[in-house]
Amino acid sequence: MDQYFVVGNPIEHSKSPQIHTLFAEQTGQALEYDKMLVELDNFDNAMTHFIQSGVQGLNVTVPFKSQAFDYVDELSERAKLAGAVNTVLFKDGHSCGDNTDGVGLVRDIINQGGALENKRLLVLGAGGAVRGILGPLLNKNPQEIVIVNRSHDKAVQLAQDFSSLGTIKAQTLEQLEGAFDWIINGTSAGLDGKVVDLPAVAVTSQTWCYDLLYSDGETGFNQRCRELGAFKCIDGLGMLVEQAAEAFYLWRGVRPETESVVAAIRG
Ligand code: ATR
Repeated sequence: MDQYFVVGNPIEHSKSPQIHTLFAEQTGQALEYDKMLVELDNFDNAMTHFIQSGVQGLNVTVPFKSQAFDYVDELSERAKLAGAVNTVLFKDGHSCGDNTDGVGLVRDIINQGGALENKRLLVLGAGGAVRGILGPLLNKNPQEIVIVNRSHDKAVQLAQDFSSLGTIKAQTLEQLEGAFDWIINGTSAGLDGKVVDLPAVAVTSQTWCYDLLYSDGETGFNQRCRELGAFKCIDGLGMLVEQAAEAFYLWRGVRPETESVVAAIRG
């Protein structure tokens, strides 16, 4: 049977096997999908092993997305923009790398009834997760994207790297002015139980908030936005399922339905 894996370190809590198994059942595709812990210094060997054993494809998660970017023979345009690979397709010993994270976020935003065209977006963070979403966000022609990051230099660099795709600038928290239509948290602060200290003026009763992180309860960022009176607060589960659906489509040529899968995982 065709075999797929998600690789990462740690990998124990990955929801990808559950998501892809539900996709396979729903679409009648015969495949196996498992998780695999890869040692931190063994990524390239593991890739060679996957190719030799006839594995069809991989999802790649923390901390290997940039190593996968360096490893693969061929890169999609969106992987090049993201500087990272989260989906690998193997064919005849050849590896192609793609990145489905950004398109997953945008699809979930649309699923939730949100719109990005002509909107003012605040993006928090300037690490790998944010680099992965900026291309697809800018493709939706927002009015502007403002990036704020603890290390301001990284935000400036990112804004510069994406400046040819739309209106994007870096600011400090103190420089922020006015309200935003969207505030997207792409920092990993929540993993340490911390929340970026948003100015209250940034959030109004029209503001949509999106935390790329997902947790069983409400995330710290979403709690803070709700307390500031945001219109809607969304966590990263829908994005997780949508990025998986796009990977599934790349591998199998069939697009699974996602709403029931989000509900099953949430349940
Ligand atoms: P990822 O792949 O999840 O994006 P990363 O590349 O290490 O991981 O980036 C983590 C992001 O979260 C960075 O923007 C980081 O800010 P710095 O660039 O200043 O390190 C941000 N971050 C992490 N912890 C944070 C905290 N406690 N407060 C604010 N930002 C934080």
